[in-house]
Amino acid sequence: FFGFDLSNASSSLEYDDEQEGIKDKIVIQFSHVVAENTPKGMAARRFASLVESRTNGEIKIQVHSNGTLYSDQNEYEALREGRVEMIAPATSNLTKRFPKWQVLDLPFAFPSYQAIEEAYQGEIGETLLSDLEQDDIKGLTFWYNGYKQVTNSSHPILNPEDFHRLHFRIMPSPVIESQFEQLGASTSELPFNKTYRNLEVDFVNGQENTASNIYSKKLFQDQSYMTISNHGYLGYAVLINEAFWNNLSDEHREIIEGAMTETTNWVRRHSIEMNDESTRKLRQEENLQIDYLTQTQQEAWEQRLRPIYEETESMVGSKLMKKIYKLKD
Ligand code: LMR
Repeated sequence: FFGFDLSNASSSLEYDDEQEGIKDKIVIQFSHVVAENTPKGMAARRFASLVESRTNGEIKIQVHSNGTLYSDQNEYEALREGRVEMIAPATSNLTKRFPKWQVLDLPFAFPSYQAIEEAYQGEIGETLLSDLEQDDIKGLTFWYNGYKQVTNSSHPILNPEDFHRLHFRIMPSPVIESQFEQLGASTSELPFNKTYRNLEVDFVNGQENTASNIYSKKLFQDQSYMTISNHGYLGYAVLINEAFWNNLSDEHREIIEGAMTETTNWVRRHSIEMNDESTRKLRQEENLQIDYLTQTQQEAWEQRLRPIYEETESMVGSKLMKKIYKLKD
Protein backbone atom coordinates (compact mmCIF):
# COMPACT_ATOMS: atom_id res chain seq x y z
CA PHE A 1 0.00 0.00 0.00
CA PHE A 2 2.73 2.48 0.91
CA GLY A 3 5.27 0.91 -1.40
CA PHE A 4 7.62 -0.15 1.37
CA ASP A 5 7.58 -2.56 4.23
CA LEU A 6 6.45 -1.01 7.51
CA SER A 7 6.23 -4.22 9.45
CA ASN A 8 9.44 -3.79 11.44
CA ALA A 9 12.33 -1.48 12.20
CA SER A 10 14.52 -3.01 9.53
CA SER A 11 12.33 -1.22 7.01
CA SER A 12 14.49 1.80 7.77
CA LEU A 13 17.26 0.31 5.65
CA GLU A 14 16.61 0.63 1.98
CA TYR A 15 18.74 -0.64 -0.83
CA ASP A 16 19.89 2.28 -2.95
CA ASP A 17 21.40 1.34 -6.24
CA GLU A 18 20.90 4.64 -8.00
CA GLN A 19 24.12 6.14 -6.71
CA GLU A 20 27.63 5.26 -7.76
CA GLY A 21 28.54 2.13 -5.91
CA ILE A 22 25.85 0.40 -3.95
CA LYS A 23 25.25 1.54 -0.41
CA ASP A 24 22.58 1.38 2.20
CA LYS A 25 20.39 4.38 2.62
CA ILE A 26 18.79 4.99 6.01
CA VAL A 27 15.12 5.87 5.84
CA ILE A 28 13.26 7.58 8.66
CA GLN A 29 9.49 7.36 8.52
CA PHE A 30 8.14 10.49 10.24
CA SER A 31 4.40 10.36 10.87
CA HIS A 32 2.18 13.23 12.00
CA VAL A 33 -1.49 14.17 11.91
CA VAL A 34 -1.74 17.82 10.85
CA ALA A 35 -1.85 19.53 7.44
CA GLU A 36 1.33 20.46 5.56
CA ASN A 37 0.80 24.21 5.80
CA THR A 38 1.02 24.40 9.60
CA PRO A 39 3.88 24.87 12.08
CA LYS A 40 4.39 21.12 12.58
CA GLY A 41 3.85 20.28 8.91
CA MET A 42 6.41 22.86 7.76
CA ALA A 43 8.90 22.02 10.52
CA ALA A 44 8.85 18.32 9.63
CA ARG A 45 9.56 19.12 5.96
CA ARG A 46 12.30 21.56 6.82
CA PHE A 47 13.98 19.12 9.20
CA ALA A 48 13.79 16.36 6.58
CA SER A 49 15.43 18.45 3.89
CA LEU A 50 18.21 19.69 6.23
CA VAL A 51 19.07 16.14 7.27
CA GLU A 52 18.94 14.82 3.74
CA SER A 53 21.22 17.49 2.33
CA ARG A 54 23.69 17.39 5.23
CA THR A 55 24.06 13.63 5.03
CA ASN A 56 24.39 13.81 1.23
CA GLY A 57 21.29 11.70 0.96
CA GLU A 58 22.56 8.99 3.30
CA ILE A 59 19.51 9.61 5.45
CA LYS A 60 16.17 10.06 3.81
CA ILE A 61 13.19 11.24 5.86
CA GLN A 62 9.77 10.35 4.55
CA VAL A 63 7.21 12.66 6.11
CA HIS A 64 3.63 11.38 6.28
CA SER A 65 1.25 14.22 7.16
CA ASN A 66 -2.52 14.44 7.81
CA GLY A 67 -2.62 11.16 9.75
CA THR A 68 -2.32 9.14 6.53
CA LEU A 69 -0.04 6.61 8.19
CA TYR A 70 -1.08 6.67 11.87
CA SER A 71 -3.59 8.71 13.89
CA ASP A 72 -2.87 10.49 17.16
CA GLN A 73 -4.37 7.43 18.87
CA ASN A 74 -1.93 4.86 17.50
CA GLU A 75 1.23 6.72 16.46
CA TYR A 76 2.89 6.33 19.87
CA GLU A 77 2.57 2.53 19.81
CA ALA A 78 3.82 2.53 16.21
CA LEU A 79 6.90 4.43 17.35
CA ARG A 80 7.58 2.11 20.27
CA GLU A 81 7.27 -0.93 18.06
CA GLY A 82 9.56 0.57 15.42
CA ARG A 83 6.90 0.71 12.72
CA VAL A 84 7.86 4.39 12.34
CA GLU A 85 11.07 6.04 13.49
CA MET A 86 9.79 9.54 14.37
CA ILE A 87 6.57 11.23 15.49
CA ALA A 88 5.73 14.64 17.00
CA PRO A 89 2.54 14.27 19.05
CA ALA A 90 0.88 17.18 20.83
CA THR A 91 2.22 17.07 24.39
CA SER A 92 -1.38 16.59 25.59
CA ASN A 93 -1.39 13.16 23.97
CA LEU A 94 1.31 11.94 26.38
CA THR A 95 -0.41 12.99 29.60
CA LYS A 96 -2.21 9.73 30.35
CA ARG A 97 0.96 7.69 30.08
CA PHE A 98 3.15 10.32 31.78
CA PRO A 99 1.01 12.33 34.25
CA LYS A 100 3.70 15.00 34.77
CA TRP A 101 3.15 16.13 31.19
CA GLN A 102 -0.21 17.52 32.34
CA VAL A 103 1.50 20.69 33.53
CA LEU A 104 1.84 21.80 29.91
CA ASP A 105 -1.96 21.74 29.57
CA LEU A 106 -2.65 23.98 32.56
CA PRO A 107 -4.88 26.88 31.55
CA PHE A 108 -3.22 30.32 31.55
CA ALA A 109 0.07 28.84 32.76
CA PHE A 110 2.14 30.44 29.99
CA PRO A 111 1.37 34.14 29.80
CA SER A 112 3.92 34.86 27.06
CA TYR A 113 5.86 33.16 24.26
CA GLN A 114 8.91 33.57 26.42
CA ALA A 115 7.27 31.56 29.21
CA ILE A 116 6.53 28.65 26.90
CA GLU A 117 10.05 28.78 25.52
CA GLU A 118 11.45 28.66 29.06
CA ALA A 119 9.26 25.66 29.86
CA TYR A 120 10.23 23.75 26.71
CA GLN A 121 13.94 24.55 26.62
CA GLY A 122 14.58 24.62 30.38
CA GLU A 123 14.34 22.26 33.34
CA ILE A 124 10.63 21.54 32.88
CA GLY A 125 11.17 20.26 29.36
CA GLU A 126 14.22 18.29 30.39
CA THR A 127 12.33 16.58 33.23
CA LEU A 128 9.43 15.67 30.96
CA LEU A 129 11.55 14.33 28.11
CA SER A 130 13.54 12.13 30.48
CA ASP A 131 10.27 10.39 31.49
CA LEU A 132 10.11 8.87 28.03
CA GLU A 133 13.21 6.75 28.55
CA GLN A 134 11.00 4.26 30.40
CA ASP A 135 9.42 3.49 27.05
CA ASP A 136 12.75 3.35 25.19
CA ILE A 137 11.90 6.53 23.40
CA LYS A 138 14.26 9.42 22.96
CA GLY A 139 12.72 12.87 23.25
CA LEU A 140 14.68 15.15 20.94
CA THR A 141 13.00 18.50 21.57
CA PHE A 142 9.72 20.43 21.69
CA TRP A 143 8.19 22.13 18.68
CA TYR A 144 5.89 25.14 18.90
CA ASN A 145 2.40 25.63 17.56
CA GLY A 146 0.48 28.26 19.51
CA TYR A 147 -2.22 29.30 21.91
CA LYS A 148 -5.56 27.53 21.73
CA GLN A 149 -8.80 29.31 20.88
CA VAL A 150 -12.36 28.11 21.43
CA THR A 151 -14.95 27.61 18.69
CA ASN A 152 -18.60 26.62 18.99
CA SER A 153 -21.81 26.62 17.00
CA SER A 154 -24.45 28.30 19.14
CA HIS A 155 -23.40 31.55 20.85
CA PRO A 156 -20.38 33.73 21.66
CA ILE A 157 -18.28 32.39 24.54
CA LEU A 158 -17.09 35.27 26.66
CA ASN A 159 -17.89 34.43 30.27
CA PRO A 160 -17.39 31.11 32.07
CA GLU A 161 -21.19 30.67 32.15
CA ASP A 162 -21.28 30.62 28.36
CA PHE A 163 -19.73 27.14 28.42
CA HIS A 164 -22.62 25.74 30.38
CA ARG A 165 -24.07 22.52 28.91
CA LEU A 166 -21.95 22.62 25.75
CA HIS A 167 -20.14 19.51 24.55
CA PHE A 168 -16.52 19.83 23.37
CA ARG A 169 -14.06 17.70 21.47
CA ILE A 170 -10.81 17.39 23.41
CA MET A 171 -7.44 15.71 23.16
CA PRO A 172 -6.94 12.87 25.69
CA SER A 173 -5.73 14.94 28.65
CA PRO A 174 -7.15 14.92 32.20
CA VAL A 175 -6.28 18.60 32.72
CA ILE A 176 -8.15 19.59 29.57
CA GLU A 177 -11.11 17.47 30.67
CA SER A 178 -11.11 19.22 34.08
CA GLN A 179 -10.84 22.58 32.40
CA PHE A 180 -14.13 22.10 30.57
CA GLU A 181 -15.72 20.43 33.59
CA GLN A 182 -14.92 23.48 35.74
CA LEU A 183 -16.58 25.62 33.11
CA GLY A 184 -19.74 23.49 33.17
CA ALA A 185 -19.20 21.78 29.81
CA SER A 186 -18.86 18.10 28.92
CA THR A 187 -16.23 16.56 26.64
CA SER A 188 -15.42 13.70 24.29
CA GLU A 189 -11.89 12.62 23.46
CA LEU A 190 -11.76 12.35 19.69
CA PRO A 191 -8.89 11.92 17.23
CA PHE A 192 -7.80 15.10 15.48
CA ASN A 193 -8.78 13.87 12.05
CA LYS A 194 -12.29 12.96 13.20
CA THR A 195 -12.94 16.40 14.70
CA TYR A 196 -14.26 18.01 11.52
CA ARG A 197 -16.79 15.23 11.01
CA ASN A 198 -17.96 15.31 14.63
CA LEU A 199 -18.54 19.05 14.41
CA GLU A 200 -20.37 18.60 11.13
CA VAL A 201 -22.82 16.03 12.50
CA ASP A 202 -23.20 18.05 15.73
CA PHE A 203 -21.94 15.27 17.98
CA VAL A 204 -19.89 18.01 19.63
CA ASN A 205 -20.83 21.70 19.80
CA GLY A 206 -17.30 22.99 19.78
CA GLN A 207 -13.58 22.44 20.19
CA GLU A 208 -10.36 24.22 21.18
CA ASN A 209 -7.35 24.49 18.91
CA THR A 210 -4.77 26.81 17.41
CA ALA A 211 -5.80 29.10 14.56
CA SER A 212 -3.51 27.20 12.18
CA ASN A 213 -5.21 23.88 12.94
CA ILE A 214 -8.69 25.45 12.85
CA TYR A 215 -8.02 27.05 9.47
CA SER A 216 -6.11 24.23 7.77
CA LYS A 217 -8.61 21.55 8.81
CA LYS A 218 -11.66 23.78 8.23
CA LEU A 219 -12.77 23.26 11.82
CA PHE A 220 -14.55 26.63 11.63
CA GLN A 221 -16.90 25.56 8.87
CA ASP A 222 -19.70 24.25 11.03
CA GLN A 223 -18.99 26.74 13.80
CA SER A 224 -20.38 30.26 14.10
CA TYR A 225 -18.26 31.64 16.93
CA MET A 226 -14.62 31.72 17.84
CA THR A 227 -13.15 33.28 20.95
CA ILE A 228 -9.53 34.39 20.95
CA SER A 229 -8.95 33.23 24.50
CA ASN A 230 -5.28 32.13 24.40
CA HIS A 231 -6.19 30.02 27.43
CA GLY A 232 -3.79 27.14 26.81
CA TYR A 233 -0.76 26.30 24.71
CA LEU A 234 -0.51 23.54 22.11
CA GLY A 235 2.96 22.28 21.24
CA TYR A 236 4.73 19.06 20.37
CA ALA A 237 7.24 16.56 21.67
CA VAL A 238 9.54 15.40 18.87
CA LEU A 239 10.29 11.72 19.47
CA ILE A 240 12.55 9.13 17.92
CA ASN A 241 12.68 5.37 18.49
CA GLU A 242 15.64 4.86 20.84
CA ALA A 243 16.92 1.57 19.41
CA PHE A 244 16.97 3.18 15.97
CA TRP A 245 18.77 6.23 17.41
CA ASN A 246 21.39 4.07 19.11
CA ASN A 247 22.13 2.30 15.83
CA LEU A 248 22.97 5.51 14.01
CA SER A 249 26.60 6.59 13.62
CA ASP A 250 27.90 9.45 15.79
CA GLU A 251 28.18 11.58 12.69
CA HIS A 252 24.54 11.03 11.69
CA ARG A 253 23.34 11.67 15.23
CA GLU A 254 25.22 14.96 15.28
CA ILE A 255 23.71 16.03 11.97
CA ILE A 256 20.22 15.16 13.20
CA GLU A 257 20.73 17.08 16.44
CA GLY A 258 22.03 20.14 14.59
CA ALA A 259 19.17 20.08 12.09
CA MET A 260 16.73 19.65 14.98
CA THR A 261 18.06 22.68 16.88
CA GLU A 262 17.83 24.79 13.75
CA THR A 263 14.30 23.60 12.97
CA THR A 264 13.17 24.20 16.55
CA ASN A 265 14.42 27.79 16.41
CA TRP A 266 12.74 28.25 13.06
CA VAL A 267 9.36 26.92 14.18
CA ARG A 268 9.50 28.94 17.41
CA ARG A 269 9.60 32.14 15.35
CA HIS A 270 7.42 31.12 12.42
CA SER A 271 4.65 29.40 14.38
CA ILE A 272 3.58 32.82 15.68
CA GLU A 273 3.39 34.26 12.15
CA MET A 274 1.59 31.20 10.82
CA ASN A 275 -1.09 31.36 13.50
CA ASP A 276 -1.49 35.12 12.99
CA GLU A 277 -1.93 34.54 9.28
CA SER A 278 -4.55 31.84 9.92
CA THR A 279 -6.39 34.20 12.30
CA ARG A 280 -6.42 36.86 9.57
CA LYS A 281 -7.92 34.36 7.14
CA LEU A 282 -10.49 33.26 9.71
CA ARG A 283 -11.51 36.89 10.15
CA GLN A 284 -12.41 36.98 6.46
CA GLU A 285 -14.89 34.12 6.90
CA GLU A 286 -18.30 35.77 6.83
CA ASN A 287 -20.06 33.07 8.78
CA LEU A 288 -17.65 33.13 11.69
CA GLN A 289 -17.89 35.74 14.42
CA ILE A 290 -14.61 36.28 16.26
CA ASP A 291 -14.58 37.73 19.77
CA TYR A 292 -11.67 38.71 21.97
CA LEU A 293 -11.73 38.31 25.75
CA THR A 294 -11.54 41.47 27.82
CA GLN A 295 -9.16 41.53 30.78
CA THR A 296 -12.10 41.14 33.18
CA GLN A 297 -13.49 38.19 31.26
CA GLN A 298 -10.09 36.51 31.22
CA GLU A 299 -9.79 37.00 34.97
CA ALA A 300 -13.20 35.34 35.44
CA TRP A 301 -12.00 32.31 33.42
CA GLU A 302 -8.78 32.17 35.43
CA GLN A 303 -10.61 32.30 38.71
CA ARG A 304 -12.99 29.54 37.66
CA LEU A 305 -10.11 27.35 36.52
CA ARG A 306 -7.89 27.84 39.57
CA PRO A 307 -8.88 24.58 41.34
CA ILE A 308 -7.20 22.64 38.51
CA TYR A 309 -3.82 23.81 39.78
CA GLU A 310 -4.29 22.16 43.17
CA GLU A 311 -5.67 19.05 41.55
CA THR A 312 -2.65 18.85 39.26
CA GLU A 313 -0.19 19.54 42.06
CA SER A 314 -1.51 16.52 43.94
CA MET A 315 -0.71 14.40 40.88
CA VAL A 316 2.62 15.80 39.74
CA GLY A 317 4.16 17.04 42.99
CA SER A 318 5.08 20.50 44.23
CA LYS A 319 8.62 20.54 42.85
CA LEU A 320 7.46 20.65 39.24
CA MET A 321 4.51 22.92 40.03
CA LYS A 322 6.84 25.49 41.63
CA LYS A 323 8.65 25.76 38.31
CA ILE A 324 5.34 26.29 36.54
CA TYR A 325 4.26 28.99 39.01
CA LYS A 326 7.54 30.80 38.40
CA LEU A 327 6.68 31.22 34.72
CA LYS A 328 3.50 33.06 35.66
CA ASP A 329 5.38 35.74 37.64
C1 LMR B 1 -5.25 18.08 18.14
O1 LMR B 1 -5.48 16.87 18.34
O2 LMR B 1 -6.12 18.95 18.15
C2 LMR B 1 -3.82 18.48 17.90
O3 LMR B 1 -3.03 17.72 18.75
C3 LMR B 1 -3.41 18.20 16.50
C4 LMR B 1 -1.95 18.53 16.35
O4 LMR B 1 -1.14 17.60 16.27
O5 LMR B 1 -1.66 19.73 16.30
